[in-house]
Amino acid sequence: MAYPPGAVECAMKAHEVIMRALDGQLTWIQAAEILGRSPRSIRRLRWLLQHRGYDGLFDRRRRTPSPKRAPVAEVRAVVARCPSGALRALPSEPENGSAAVTVRVSEDGPVLLRGRIRLERADGALLAELEAASLCRCGATANPPFCDGSHERLAGHRG
Ligand code: FES
Repeated sequence: MAYPPGAVECAMKAHEVIMRALDGQLTWIQAAEILGRSPRSIRRLRWLLQHRGYDGLFDRRRRTPSPKRAPVAEVRAVVARCPSGALRALPSEPENGSAAVTVRVSEDGPVLLRGRIRLERADGALLAELEAASLCRCGATANPPFCDGSHERLAGHRG
């Protein structure tokens, strides 16, 4: 599914800022200011990221096939030639189907996952397939296994 470059850029920026806020590096007010959105809108974006993954951050109204769409290999070649290293591509999926997943345990907060994630219930049934997720580790969430920010209300929370 193709999105215009502007929509992709918006989703990438929102993802980065929300992940930093979930990690406690930013307050939610700061995240709202960076993205030029209201705190309510930021809460909605956080919910979308936690429940629909990275795809949830895309503005579906802007989904249109682009006639300028380039093949993935060509884009990867351009990104690899970036002299400053500012451009980075997500790792391509290895042949065996397993991709690297980054796991970060945030201080007093959720476990943050990035990568191709297949989340299963205890019985092995598919719960979600995501590219990013924040999983509750405090037990206070109303939406297990995802973090809903409830850890911020717990006594002793430092964020
Ligand atoms: S870690 Fe966020 S609600 Fe539990």
